[in-house]
Amino acid sequence: MVLAHAPGRVNLIGDHTDYTGGWALPMAVDRGTTVELERGGATVELRSADDPQPACVPIDVADPAAVRPAWARYVAGVVAVLRPPAGGRGRVGTTLPLGAGLSSSAALEVAVALALGFDGTPLELALACQRAEQLAWGTRTGILDQLASAAGVAGHALLIDCAALVVEPVPLPDDVAVVVADTGQRRSVATSAYAERRAQCEAAEAVIGPLRAASSADVASLDDAVVRRRARHVVTENARVLDFAAAVRAGDLAGAGRLMAESHASLRDDFEVSTPALDALVERLAATPGVYGARLTGAGFGGCAVALADPASPAPGWRLRAAAAATVTVT
Ligand code: GLA
Repeated sequence: MVLAHAPGRVNLIGDHTDYTGGWALPMAVDRGTTVELERGGATVELRSADDPQPACVPIDVADPAAVRPAWARYVAGVVAVLRPPAGGRGRVGTTLPLGAGLSSSAALEVAVALALGFDGTPLELALACQRAEQLAWGTRTGILDQLASAAGVAGHALLIDCAALVVEPVPLPDDVAVVVADTGQRRSVATSAYAERRAQCEAAEAVIGPLRAASSADVASLDDAVVRRRARHVVTENARVLDFAAAVRAGDLAGAGRLMAESHASLRDDFEVSTPALDALVERLAATPGVYGARLTGAGFGGCAVALADPASPAPGWRLRAAAAATVTVT
């Protein structure tokens, strides 16, 4: 029997920066996905508390994207990447809201990979699960979600250099709460404009080179107004991530909060991945006493907002703690 647990993540700042090799600052959270598996056989059979239809994936599955029901595709993607010598039977359960921007998908992938015997570094685990998601859904998502789940450190946010793939833990002060509030608006990265945004970033890079190294003058030189706005978001967001990490380290929570507000405005106006529901929620959080700053978190198009707040603030939402990385125990 194996018991694998993988945390979800909330991204404090740095969205739509990972797939151009920029910076992000998520934390693994104390909500996640657990897989209990008895290993053996040539199929991975998992029952879920959230879907009456189980996942039944042969270990030689050919096309993970064709597997049904939809959630089983994540399992199939992991199986196709790992090609484990044996499958298993068991169940999966989660304390994460599904499809809400807290990386329920990455948590499922990471927990399944560990349950199937993945053996490697946290980075290797994250890369395998990123590949699994790409195989299962055909979307070219970045490394943010899987790396936060695989490399989380309790009490710390994670400053991720998405080009070097290096994670630097940033201690979070005790006197701050991370509040996550859900719009209830559900989205899927596959059906959203994620791929279009990524292509627009690539169009910018074809003209001015890597956005990570681009200046505001480089951005201003882009002819296409939409591509210019997308690039401006990425370039300014990368700077905000580094400033945010410095502010948190210095205990400047007001400064960190201002950067979150700027990040939201940039995601809303330049990257255009917010929604009226997200804007309203962010405004409501930001207007609540004791809140330093709020922004949408994750891909956008719905899902959750995150705020940094004084622990005594009445800000509505879950109070999430920075959690440790995914683990597996064999009994
Ligand atoms: C999704 C993707 C990540 C990242 C975020 C936006 O969560 O899976 O790789 O691109 O969107 O920051």
